[in-house]
Amino acid sequence: MDTASANDETILGNDSLLGRDRPVAVITGASSGLGEEYAWQLAAAGYDLLLVARRETVLQKLQAAIEATYGIRSEPFRCNLAIPSDLARLEERIARIAALEFMVNNAGFGFDSAFPNVDIEQQCTMVQVHCIATLRLSQAALRIMCARRKGYLINVSSIAAMTFGTSVAQYCATKAYVLSLSRSLWGDAKPYGVNVQALCPGFVHTGFHATETMKGFDKSKMPGFLWLTSRYVVRKSLAAVRKKNCRDVSIPSLRYKLLALLFRMPFSSILIRALYAKRDAARKSETPLAPEQTV
Ligand SMILES: NC(=O)c1ccc[n+]([C@@H]2O[C@H](COP(=O)([O-])OP(=O)(O)OC[C@H]3O[C@@H](n4cnc5c(N)ncnc54)[C@H](OP(=O)(O)O)[C@@H]3O)[C@@H](O)[C@H]2O)c1
Repeated sequence: MDTASANDETILGNDSLLGRDRPVAVITGASSGLGEEYAWQLAAAGYDLLLVARRETVLQKLQAAIEATYGIRSEPFRCNLAIPSDLARLEERIARIAALEFMVNNAGFGFDSAFPNVDIEQQCTMVQVHCIATLRLSQAALRIMCARRKGYLINVSSIAAMTFGTSVAQYCATKAYVLSLSRSLWGDAKPYGVNVQALCPGFVHTGFHATETMKGFDKSKMPGFLWLTSRYVVRKSLAAVRKKNCRDVSIPSLRYKLLALLFRMPFSSILIRALYAKRDAARKSETPLAPEQTV
């Protein structure tokens, strides 16, 4: 066996029943929200699933429910994407999925706190989860999909990638990285018949706003018309990425498409600052934390 075919076997070899009869989708952040919804909709479309997140028992429950409903195979994969050795294990697992056809880099979390007060380590974790994991897993997946000349890569960014805001600096910055990376990957993958999409949703009802790091965010203060459901967002994302002339960016719903246009207008930053002005004024009365304290 020459080197090239030995490498092919390493890349395309398979060591589990996952993908034996069906194409495979890998979804990060599958234990909740958008990721869980991708799992349901891709199972309904006939994919076997590798379900990735930190909460293994939640993934196991999802596995049982999805397999009972759709008769596909799935595999829970416990992984903290912020830990390099965990991420490496996942890259190795993906490299052994010969029938990989869908990769959804969806795992993520929010932060809503004035920057001088935040825990800098958590800000670095956000870089690991949003940027480093998306970068490494995109390559792991594209190597297989480009070799197969078929596949779909969805990287979940956010409408926040197109703007900026008080108390969400690192979130906007890391999601801008995901958006920019994915738009370029679209061109790298296209010649091989592989579609890449940066998904940029607005507010979606998920577990996102209920986490410890988002306790500064009051969901009730956001107007109802801004909220989307995960079912709608995922349906739009999957329909868009499967199109032959798939676009590099998908923004579900007209209201957010219009908002994205607005963000590109000259002087839009004046409007954005005005939208944040009330919040900024409220923060003025807060006492900044001492150097050794964080939230
Ligand atoms: N909801 C919105 O309004 C909104 C808007 C725009 C973009 N987004 C983006 O959509 C994506 C999905 O979020 P969601 O709204 O569905 O929120 P969610 O319900 O809180 O789900 C987040 C998922 O990410 C996983 N995750 C978080 N940190 C992780 C880590 N270190 N390692 C592995 N998995 C991790 C969580 O699983 P475990 O806790 O089990 O690890 C969970 O499955 C995120 O990238 C988010 O930025 C959300």
